[in-house]
Amino acid sequence: MVRILGIESSCDETAAAVVDDGYRVLGQRVASQVDLHARFGGVIPEVASRSHLEAIFPVIDDALAEAGCTLADIDAIAVTTTPGLVGCLLVGLSAAKGLSLATGLPIVSVNHVHAHIYGGIMPSMMGADGERVDPTWPLASLVVSGGHSSLYESRGPSEHRLLGRTIDDAVGEAYDKVSAILGLGYPGGPVIDRLAQTGNPKAYRFKRTNIDGFDFSFSGLKTAVRYAARGPNARRGAPLLDDIVPADLAASFQAAAVDILAAKLVPCAESIGARGLVVCGGVAANSALRTRCQAEADTLGIPLFLPPMALATDNAVMIAGLGAEHAFAERWAGLEVDAAPRAD
Ligand code: KG4
Ligand code: ZN
Repeated sequence: MVRILGIESSCDETAAAVVDDGYRVLGQRVASQVDLHARFGGVIPEVASRSHLEAIFPVIDDALAEAGCTLADIDAIAVTTTPGLVGCLLVGLSAAKGLSLATGLPIVSVNHVHAHIYGGIMPSMMGADGERVDPTWPLASLVVSGGHSSLYESRGPSEHRLLGRTIDDAVGEAYDKVSAILGLGYPGGPVIDRLAQTGNPKAYRFKRTNIDGFDFSFSGLKTAVRYAARGPNARRGAPLLDDIVPADLAASFQAAAVDILAAKLVPCAESIGARGLVVCGGVAANSALRTRCQAEADTLGIPLFLPPMALATDNAVMIAGLGAEHAFAERWAGLEVDAAPRAD
C-alpha cells in the first residue's frame, strides 16, 4: 500500500489530497481563487502566487484532517512541477520540499496535464469489491482546459505521447474570451455552457477550423464570435450590436467548439486503435462536450472515461493518484527538482 499526499498549485487553485494506491481518496481540499481573479477578468500570476502562499498549509492541514491522518502516515509527497505559472508552481514545490526536509518523506514530481488524464480514468479504477481495476490501453486522451487543448495516445498511467495540440488559443481560453465579449465575466466556461442551453446552436454558422493532422485552432472561432457580437471588423471594446441574441451566440459558438474537438478526437482514436476515450481538464465539465463524446464513444463501441465535475477542474486528487504510479516505480525526485512553466 502506498499513501500519497498530493499538492497542486499550478494555476488558480490551491489543492491538497490524500490518496491510497492511486485510487482510494481519503481526503481532499481545494481553495479556489476564482472570485479573486474574476475582478480582473483573468488570472494575474502575481496575485495567484501570493494567494497560494496564504492557502497552501491550511489546505494541506485540512486534507490530512479529512483523511484522518498525519504526515507520519504518509509514504510520499506528490507535487505538480510542470506545466503552469512558475511563481505558482514554486509555492507548492517549496511546501513539498519543506515537508520533505522536515519529515524525510520522498517527493515525486507530477506533470499536471498527465494528471488530468489520470483524473479522467481514476473513478473507474474502483472495482466492485474495492479492488483496483485498470483500463485497457491504449486510450485516446483529450485534455481541454484554460491552458491546453491536446490529444495524446495514452499507453499507461504515465505514458502519454502528444499527437496534437492547439496552434493558438486553448478551448477554455476561447470560452473565457467569448464570455468576455458578451460581457458575462470570468471564468466563461460555466456561464456560456448554461446560456447555450437556452439558445439555438444553428442561429450562427461559425466555420469549423480544420487544420492538418491532430492539431486544433480556436482563435478564428473566437474572432468570428466577436464580429458576430460587435459587428464586422469590430475592435476590442466596441459595443455589442443591438439585435444579437446572446444565448444563440453562446449555443452556436459551443456547437462549433465541440465539433472542432470531436473532428480530431474520433480519427485520432481510430488511428491508434484506442480501447477507450478520455476527456479531461476544466472544459470536460462542459455538458455539450460530455454528451457528444459519449455519443462518439458509443459509435466507436469503446468506453468513455470522464472525470466527475470535481475532478475535471484543477485538484490534487489527480496529482496524488498519478503520484502513486511514480512511487510504485520508485521515480523519486531529489530536493534539486525545479518547476518548469512548459512541459516540453
Ligand atoms: O483545468 P482547469 O481548471 O484549469 C486549467 O488548467 O486551465 O480549466 C479551467 C478552464 C477555464 O477556461 C473554464 O472556463 C473552463 O475550464 N471551464 C469550462 C466549463 N467549466 C470550466 N468550459 C466549458 N464549459 C464548462 N462547463
Ligand atoms: Zn488544469
